[in-house]
Amino acid sequence: MLKLKGSIKISGDKSISHRALIFSAMATGKTKITNLLESDDVMRTLNILKELGIKIIKNKQSWTVYGNGTNGFIEPNKVLNCGNSGTTARLMLGAVSSNPIKCTFIGDKSLSKRSMSRVTKYLEKIGAEIDLTKKDYLPLTIRGNDNLLPMKHEMEKASAQIKSAIILAGLNIKGKTRIIEKTNTRDHTEKLMKYLNIDFHIRKLKNNNTEIELNGPYEITPKNIQVVSDPSSASFFIVGALISPGSKVTLRNIMINPRRIAFLKILKKMGGKIKIKKSKTICGEDVGDITAEYSSLKGINIPSKMSALLIDEYPILSVAASQAKGKTTMKGLSELRHKESDRIKSIVINLKKIGYNIINKKDDLIIQNKKIKIKKKINIKTYDDHRIAMSFSILNIIYKNQLVIDNKNCISISYPDFTSHLKKLLVKY
Ligand code: S3P
Repeated sequence: MLKLKGSIKISGDKSISHRALIFSAMATGKTKITNLLESDDVMRTLNILKELGIKIIKNKQSWTVYGNGTNGFIEPNKVLNCGNSGTTARLMLGAVSSNPIKCTFIGDKSLSKRSMSRVTKYLEKIGAEIDLTKKDYLPLTIRGNDNLLPMKHEMEKASAQIKSAIILAGLNIKGKTRIIEKTNTRDHTEKLMKYLNIDFHIRKLKNNNTEIELNGPYEITPKNIQVVSDPSSASFFIVGALISPGSKVTLRNIMINPRRIAFLKILKKMGGKIKIKKSKTICGEDVGDITAEYSSLKGINIPSKMSALLIDEYPILSVAASQAKGKTTMKGLSELRHKESDRIKSIVINLKKIGYNIINKKDDLIIQNKKIKIKKKINIKTYDDHRIAMSFSILNIIYKNQLVIDNKNCISISYPDFTSHLKKLLVKY
């Protein structure tokens, strides 16, 4: 039998790593970034910034970024390759749109199937010229300009990537850029802007919507950034501990931003023994230690209003649900179809292969727990999706590695140290 025991420090947060690089590049002067997540996705953003004329140097324990200002990108000689990274593509489109340069963005097979018009439609409205493949996809060419219009934008989709793209454009727009968010999404861009003393406003409106108001153009004074540890990466070991008898793990210095740890609320409601101990605030983000131990989980209903705050955790929550007594219902998962893979499909196909009762009705999932013993190896199809690969690697703890994950390399997209961290925590007994 296998269980998880011990304590580790999880790697840097992916969302904050992208933003730390982009904001440092758009500041005027030198920023030192520590604990940057050196994953494939983040390195895509880093290399694109280099192509745009930003000097970035790796030191022993940190990275130094020499920012050129909010209008300092130079026209690249090469196409900008976003690889698998949706965050790189969406955020960098916003960042370059208010610079008078022409850029071509490309991505890998999976990213080339993901919608870009969800971002470009806002950027086109304010004056950027964009040619998309089949009106929605990469490769695309954007011609930015430094005369984009200050406007009010109503967010149709609950997406931090779209919101952040408009904010990044607004940094070099003369006048007021306003963004109305109906559903709260992750707010790292806003928190980082506050930390960097950028003068902007966030208001709760009478109808409960949120308004973000920028008044550009800005000159950003650089400030060193320490990236805190990624709660989404921690979620794998937390669920691993909850489902494997005898386990107890403590994950240190994890970002505990409420818009990122909704999955802990869900797991606690399922009966998970989880403790969060807040310790400090780092660069505007609260951090703490999280302890999780083996628990007898029960199925619950997860309403659609929670989906924006659980968006990256549904694959691992599905693994938890497969081990929870009774039935778990997850509603309103339409956005899961637009991730690195169609995650509804990836979850359903793989849990079914193992023998679980899982039903997909439109955008809802119903997972029924069942005691399943595996007699022979079962192939897990990751669709090259890092979160699917990690989720089923966690389920493998209770199946003593009888699940054969078809692509583990994709894990380096968000968490290159996942396998070594898992090895560190795994105990045979
Ligand atoms: C991210 C936002 C989320 C999330 C992605 C990272 C970000 O996407 O799924 O992994 O860093 O802004 P959406 O907010 O577009 O759904």
